[in-house]
Amino acid sequence: MNNIYDSHAHYDSEAFDEDREDLIASLPSKGVCGLINCASDMKTAEKCLELSAEYSFIYAACGVHPHEAAECRGNYLDELKAMCDNPKCVAIGEIGLDYHYDFSPRDLQLKFFEEQIILANEMNLPIIVHDREAHEDTMNLLKKYKPAGVVHCFSGSAEMAKEVLKLGMYIGLGGACTFKNAKKPLEVAAIVPEGKLLIETDCPYMTPVPFRGQRNDSSFIPYTAQILASVRGCTADEILDITRKNANTLFKTEL
Ligand code: NI
Repeated sequence: MNNIYDSHAHYDSEAFDEDREDLIASLPSKGVCGLINCASDMKTAEKCLELSAEYSFIYAACGVHPHEAAECRGNYLDELKAMCDNPKCVAIGEIGLDYHYDFSPRDLQLKFFEEQIILANEMNLPIIVHDREAHEDTMNLLKKYKPAGVVHCFSGSAEMAKEVLKLGMYIGLGGACTFKNAKKPLEVAAIVPEGKLLIETDCPYMTPVPFRGQRNDSSFIPYTAQILASVRGCTADEILDITRKNANTLFKTEL
């Protein structure tokens, strides 16, 4: 088994400071063939590129998360554009809107999201979208610019998923699908076409049951695959195969 492609991880997080190198080095032996390490701001974007340079199976998504928009200084767009020229930067992310925490003012979140979508289209890169309790504004911008990409940790309804799919975008599902109250994500999991499903950890967060509460890493993905398989009427191994294929297609990798 070597078919776990984690489409969304944060191994730059301080949660991995104690054992980052050992843990990452162990992932291929646990079935991980590829992963996208996603930035939150320009500093973590640098770290993502460093990790991607160090490990052949790690690729980077660079961008500014809505939480960090208020703290972002200087002309980040020029810096980000230069990062996109790195062949191991395969997406702009994670970017989007978070009206649950509102760590940055909403007008600033919208400005950063829109600017980075425009850049992604200009650079011909997919985006990795974070949308928390901001479905309407997220959809409006996605419909306006029609970028390639994925809505990660998808938390909308099946109806919204259909809108996202109509735009040609992918749906990313993770550990939240295994939680007790996971009604909506499982309804979504059941209707996503085979060619548009991605699987992810969002590690160190969103650890699937039965390890919820512990630190997450890509080796726990089979637990998420299992629940997706149960609602789709296939095997966990088939889920891993199709999500691997889809991630390779979206991010133009060969992992
Ligand atoms: Ni994330």
